[in-house]
Amino acid sequence: MASPQSGKHDANNNINTLLRAQTHVWNHIFSFINSMSLKCAVDLGIPDVIHDYGKPMPLSQLIASLPIHPSKTSCIPRLMRILTHSGFFSQQHNNIVTENNEPEVEYVLTDASLLLLKDNSLSMTPFLNAMLDPVFTKPWHQLSTWFKNSDLTSFETAHGMMVWDYACHDPKLNHLFNDAMATDAGLVTAVLMEKCKEVFDGLESLVDVGGGTGAVAKAIASSFPQLECIVFDQPHVVAGLQGSDNLKYVGGNMFEAVPPANAILLKWVLHDWNDEECVNILKKCKEEITSKGKQGKVIIIDMVISENEKRDRESVETQLFFDMQMMVMATGKERNEKEWAKLIFFAGFNNYKIYPVLGVRSLIEIHP
Ligand SMILES: C[S@@+](CC[C@H](N)C(=O)[O-])C[C@H]1O[C@@H](n2cnc3c(N)ncnc32)[C@H](O)[C@@H]1O
Repeated sequence: MASPQSGKHDANNNINTLLRAQTHVWNHIFSFINSMSLKCAVDLGIPDVIHDYGKPMPLSQLIASLPIHPSKTSCIPRLMRILTHSGFFSQQHNNIVTENNEPEVEYVLTDASLLLLKDNSLSMTPFLNAMLDPVFTKPWHQLSTWFKNSDLTSFETAHGMMVWDYACHDPKLNHLFNDAMATDAGLVTAVLMEKCKEVFDGLESLVDVGGGTGAVAKAIASSFPQLECIVFDQPHVVAGLQGSDNLKYVGGNMFEAVPPANAILLKWVLHDWNDEECVNILKKCKEEITSKGKQGKVIIIDMVISENEKRDRESVETQLFFDMQMMVMATGKERNEKEWAKLIFFAGFNNYKIYPVLGVRSLIEIHP
């Protein structure tokens, strides 16, 4: 029979479990506060202000440098506190004091906030601006409605059209989206050149299908001056863009035809589409890389969802976030290796090699 002591112990355990569960639920309800606090700091220019200061920045100096109303000064430490907690700033205590003789904290940037500086060539700020724009957050409010209707995407439920049509009709969103995609190019091409340059060695021509405004292809074209590069994307995306000696822009629809080449790059393209659509795209690519009698290749850059807890918790969460984003915004998904293999073989390719060199993403080289 349980003693009165053990009954008390059980009740305590029960209460602790409930309180932990309550905290867990609160944290998930309020997860958006992480994104929105970060967006606010970037909108106010906080990372740039701290960076321009050139040394650890006292809170009072930070407040004095921000474009805020005097009635809001006491709110900045609270914004900085949550962003310090989430890893975007770090605090230093250098024994300095305010005019009132209070100890004053100083802030420095972290690796993450360095990636949000306006002038950093790897700046992720355009990506943040696009993904947290109301056009892209509104579909999340429609997700459960979408589950009950026959629309292809929650984006369509929210806006009455697919994301690509919306971008075609709204130049502001078109630019926001294209700039967001272009921010990814610098880091990706640097890693590719460092870790798997051999994938591009010896190629004569390359088409970046769904290549956006050409940021990746430009970097490849300048690293390999003998390589003829084409950026192929929807006409409204490439309209008016100027090529160079070994790079040109072509507008079109990848479901109808893509330009022929030795190699086709599909970066962040296949995850936008469902399996049937991907097989169609890959079949078109296969026709073109084999059309000159040579056996070319397709180079895919996308996620390979990890199985068996091989990744750390944060990376797994990133992959799951992207998978949900693809479900809400487009008809696509993130795929595990088995799902990739199925697509690749179904489209008539014979082998593939995965280079897991890009953090949560990989390069997948496929051959006919
Ligand atoms: C997620 S973005 C990736 C852009 C670029 N590859 C990158 O990684 O930065 C997908 C691209 O596919 C393009 N796209 C969508 N539908 C297309 C179509 N039917 N034909 C050609 N490109 C298309 C979009 O315009 C967009 O630039």
